Amino acid sequence: MCGIVGYLGKGRTRQFVVSRLKKLEYRGYDSSGIAFNKDDKIDNVKAVGNIANLENLITDENEVQCAIAHTRWATHGKPSVKNCHPHSSQSGVWSIVHNGIIENYQEIKEKLKTPTDSDTDTSTVAELLEERNAKTIGDFVEVFKEVQGSYAIVAMNSNALDELFIAKNRSPLYVAENKGEYLVASDPICFVGFAKYYYSFNNYEYAHIKNGKIKFFDAYMNELKKELVELDDCFEETQKFEYEHFMLKEIMEQPEALKRQVKTYRDTNVLAKFNKEFIEKFDYISFIGCGTAYHASMVGARYIERLTGIRASAEIASEFIYKEPVFANEKTLFVFVSQSGETADTLMAMNIAKEHGATCVALTNVLYSSLAKQADYVLPVCAGPEIAVASTKAYVCQLSALYMFARHLNNQIEDKQYNYLKDIELVSSKILDFDQEKINHIADAIKDEMNPIFIGKDLDYIAACEASLKLKEVAYVNATNYPSGELKHGFLALIEDGTPIIVFATEDKVRTKTLNAAHEAVSRGAFQITITNDGGLGYDNLIVIDVDNEYLMPMLEIAPMQYLAYEVSIKKGINPDQPRNLAKSVTVE
Ligand code: F6R
Repeated sequence: MCGIVGYLGKGRTRQFVVSRLKKLEYRGYDSSGIAFNKDDKIDNVKAVGNIANLENLITDENEVQCAIAHTRWATHGKPSVKNCHPHSSQSGVWSIVHNGIIENYQEIKEKLKTPTDSDTDTSTVAELLEERNAKTIGDFVEVFKEVQGSYAIVAMNSNALDELFIAKNRSPLYVAENKGEYLVASDPICFVGFAKYYYSFNNYEYAHIKNGKIKFFDAYMNELKKELVELDDCFEETQKFEYEHFMLKEIMEQPEALKRQVKTYRDTNVLAKFNKEFIEKFDYISFIGCGTAYHASMVGARYIERLTGIRASAEIASEFIYKEPVFANEKTLFVFVSQSGETADTLMAMNIAKEHGATCVALTNVLYSSLAKQADYVLPVCAGPEIAVASTKAYVCQLSALYMFARHLNNQIEDKQYNYLKDIELVSSKILDFDQEKINHIADAIKDEMNPIFIGKDLDYIAACEASLKLKEVAYVNATNYPSGELKHGFLALIEDGTPIIVFATEDKVRTKTLNAAHEAVSRGAFQITITNDGGLGYDNLIVIDVDNEYLMPMLEIAPMQYLAYEVSIKKGINPDQPRNLAKSVTVE
């Protein structure tokens, strides 16, 4: 949600700063802006829409020594030039960019003498800095005693244009240095080609950059010593190469990502710590996530119950945090699933679980994320950077990690040596075996249908949930998912001539049941598309998965559906990498 870049150094063009911001466009693309030093003052350029519109407004290649830039996903105030960051205080002394939400911004607004110049929560902090007459880093830190909420803030001051001021709480922020030049960013992706190492901020930490040096402080102005972190090689993957869209690239990268997943789990033996002694401490496993990560959580819970016999469930993080957490105690193992590791609801859920004495595992793609840092254990997801807003390769890699985790626990409990790595290698070799041309025809057939329905039972039902979410997000299709057994309890009333019904029927024990439910819909005019591992079915519009292991189906049956959503998106003229109203990494509640 929103992207931040700050620059301080001997001089770079604004195009350079904006090119770094472009790497963060996946975090928001409603509007963008840059503030920079010009003639001993702060000047700025802002534009509504994606960053290309901002780029068009920056024509000269003059160098700037101090700059802050932002790409926005609106929370307070609609996308407009007025609400676009950077936000300045009334006299223009302070200019700031901010990710997160200032929870007490109304309260701050009431204290301010001067009204702020936008509808955002951020402006109140810029104005507060001015009204408290903040000049030094000490003053800056003091002002944050009045600020509540989540924030990654980079600020510049017109009286000190050779300095940058930084504050961080519950919203990611990083800084890298190269020969006295500094880049601050909300994702280390921005440092590729600039620096090999970077610093990461913890909550309630501050920094001040001046004279080619950075100093870190806690909230009491104690100076902090920080370790450098090495930039992961896989950040190099953040280019589209020959692909037109990141979403397609990421779907096609799944075999490689799965191979990396297997290699990591084999080479580092990450599962070894989850031994018999460990697992015997728990009588319940709770999986928690949001959106696609919640669907992965549902699969994880099914894997655990079937393979280990331990009771397990999946919860939506934003629901869990307002529930009575009766099962959160030292006998419950919590597994938090999150691609970004920065999803606010998931982080809050982890805090609640920890407060109740539970053991927490983070299953995440971002090993430097807040979720990974706060967890007792980390299960790495090795998808590599995922840029498209819709999660594809991260989902499949999450499932592969959950599968290996459940199989490993089963090996521990039953004292056996089942080689689950081989299963994931098989998925890697089969996952793209679907007929793209057939999917393309199906995309033509359903693209103008307003209400397709995805059905399945058990693991197949979860595939239906994820497939319908993909179509909603990138193709704006009001797809519904239903457990196949529920159709006759009401949903059939919505079936009309030509309603597409996408049927997942890959599990032996429930295949016939699901197909029967589909027949009832087809008898009432529905148009059926079937995903199955039974090639003998002889239906039209059949997508056959040629693998005989029901546990692997959730990974194999989703790939053609990701591709279907991509194709429908393209046919409707939508940019699947930047669907409207969405952004990757939802760092606000
Ligand atoms: C859907 C999608 C979202 C995310 C959700 C959780 O394609 O990407 O539903 O899965 O916002 O995000 P993470 O996994 O980063 O916690």
